[in-house]
Amino acid sequence: MPATAELAERISTISVSSTMKVAAEAERLRREGADIVDFGAGEPDFPTPDNIKQAAVKALDANFTKYTNTGGTQELREAICERHHHDFGTNYAFGECMVTVGGKHAIFNLIQALINPGDEVIIPVPYWVTYKDVVNYAGGVCVFVETDESTGFEVSARLIERHLTPKTKLVIINSPCNPSGGVLSKEEFQAIHDLTVKRDIFLMTDECYCQFVYEGAPFSIAAAPGAKENVVVAGSLSKTYAMTGWRIGFALAPAPLIGAMMKLQSHSTSNPTSIAQKAAVEAMCGPQDSVPVMLAEYRRRRDFVVGRLRQIPGVSIVMPKGAFYAYPNISVAYKSGKVKNSLDFANQLLTAASVAVVPGEAFGTNDHVRISYATSMKELERGLERLHKFIDGVRG
Ligand SMILES: Cc1ncc(COP(=O)(O)O)c(C=O)c1O
Repeated sequence: MPATAELAERISTISVSSTMKVAAEAERLRREGADIVDFGAGEPDFPTPDNIKQAAVKALDANFTKYTNTGGTQELREAICERHHHDFGTNYAFGECMVTVGGKHAIFNLIQALINPGDEVIIPVPYWVTYKDVVNYAGGVCVFVETDESTGFEVSARLIERHLTPKTKLVIINSPCNPSGGVLSKEEFQAIHDLTVKRDIFLMTDECYCQFVYEGAPFSIAAAPGAKENVVVAGSLSKTYAMTGWRIGFALAPAPLIGAMMKLQSHSTSNPTSIAQKAAVEAMCGPQDSVPVMLAEYRRRRDFVVGRLRQIPGVSIVMPKGAFYAYPNISVAYKSGKVKNSLDFANQLLTAASVAVVPGEAFGTNDHVRISYATSMKELERGLERLHKFIDGVRG
């Protein structure tokens, strides 16, 4: 028996991220020579804009390669506050901001700093996979709020209110939503915030896709009056600036909470990479023109993907209003009994048709799969053609 056989109990409360599992399996098949169309990766196919890359090169040349402050350089923290102020009208100060190793890390730090065993966390379904696991890891209790496909998976304050108990400590909202592409209206978001104030609980807004909104202007609930008291913004540069590999995210929150999160970070990762921080300053302060260019391309792809999916008899899809995911209902494939559930669907699609998608099961619904359209039109055409044929084949 190897010495590592006895693992800590808490590690069994989490599982490997399904999106990463799909990516690993697709990669394995690709290495074996399969011609895989990958709709699994939630990652922009655009390169990081050149001005951002050059800032990193400059930082290297200037030997900016040492530790920085745990929560990031003052320069970057101020730049993040300024960008958020400019884009959304918030007023965060340096001490209410910290830089993290990707947005996921901001969420992890927050949950660990806030949630005691038994505390309840409200998570609307469908949800981004990581919320569930990090809450479980902290010993918290996930309280899932089911939403309805017929109303675009939109969560409401009324729905959330029904799930609140004296143990509720935090509500998590992700708009635009990964995986559904749903975007909350400003009014509903405000109503949810009012509810959290009334019940004296925290509201985390995951703004990972905040700039990728197809209708209306992006907004942040953190700009609402009084929001700074109980709102935590989990932000990320990964998608907005096509910087997934640089690992830069941030949190905006009341200063005592930032202090607690920073304490944790000081004993885990320490500072985010120094060079990446310099690149992030350029992302925050430099030209923003790459963002609308990417958004326009995502919109073009979304329209194509939704149109193409709607040509497949029995498949339905809620029009995504943001992010870069389509979340079609593929349960028509279950009717013949050849496919059992979304995991089975994704596995069979990958082995029989060489298309990688993420099963809805990972996001809390079983009738769907997630298709990332952050990939080229050519790949989308090829993959959706295969998906159509696959569904026709298993329909029975
Ligand atoms: C909803 C959501 N939040 C946060 C993240 C975190 O991204 P990162 O850690 O790359 O900043 C992701 C990444 O896929 C996401 O989809």
